[in-house]
Amino acid sequence: MPDHATIPLPPTEPLDDVQRLDRVRAYADHLQRRRTVRDFSDRPVPRAVIEHCLRAAASAPSGANQQPWRFVAVADAATKRRIREGAEAEEREFYARRAPQDWLDALAPLGTDADKPFLETAPWLIAVFYERFGIGADGVKEKRYYPHESVGIATGLLIAALHGAGLATLTHTPSPMGFLNEILGRPKNEMPYLLLVVGHAAEGCRVPAIERLPLAQVAQFID
Ligand SMILES: Cc1cc2nc3c(=O)[nH]c(=O)nc-3n(C[C@H](O)[C@H](O)[C@H](O)COP(=O)(O)O)c2cc1C
Repeated sequence: MPDHATIPLPPTEPLDDVQRLDRVRAYADHLQRRRTVRDFSDRPVPRAVIEHCLRAAASAPSGANQQPWRFVAVADAATKRRIREGAEAEEREFYARRAPQDWLDALAPLGTDADKPFLETAPWLIAVFYERFGIGADGVKEKRYYPHESVGIATGLLIAALHGAGLATLTHTPSPMGFLNEILGRPKNEMPYLLLVVGHAAEGCRVPAIERLPLAQVAQFID
């Protein structure tokens, strides 16, 4: 008997292998249709939808179950404007001075630039943070184990949940993102991870004509 408390594994749906293959094929097809959107409409999205997507994200596994992710969901117009101003200030620096030419070359097929109107147009911005370290009740720093890996997995689940809810997302990483702590009033032990722009794609939205690598290039089987 283990010396730690346990509960029964929550039940999973019983599937035979034919059903399993159908299910996962449909799910992979569904995820293949996700594309990063940079042209959003202002059509609102109910807060409850965002809450459930965040619940899905927060179900992620995490190092030592420390759940280091923190999410700030912003629909308030004035706060979105401040975030846009902060992001565009960093992006102007990035495109004009900070970015090396090879980075700019890699971005060229995406057609991105320093203007980020979607930060105000889209109904929701979700700022994702992770705890670099915890702060105990006595104010003492607590170590966090694998916070980057954990928040990355949670963010992946969040993007999948938002896509599953029929919403469009943009993963945005203005660099550096310290302005998010300031605007959103988050403590110094929380590191901004990325900013997700969430909503509906604008009518007639187009996305870059880019390809995904074939499975054989990104996956190896040894069986
Ligand atoms: C960590 C990360 C950072 C990204 N940062 C930006 C960004 O700052 N601005 C942007 O327009 N797209 C950004 N993207 C979106 C990528 O350009 C996009 O995922 C990639 O081109 C593939 O396109 P797809 O998402 O439509 O498959 C980022 C994506 C990731 C995963």
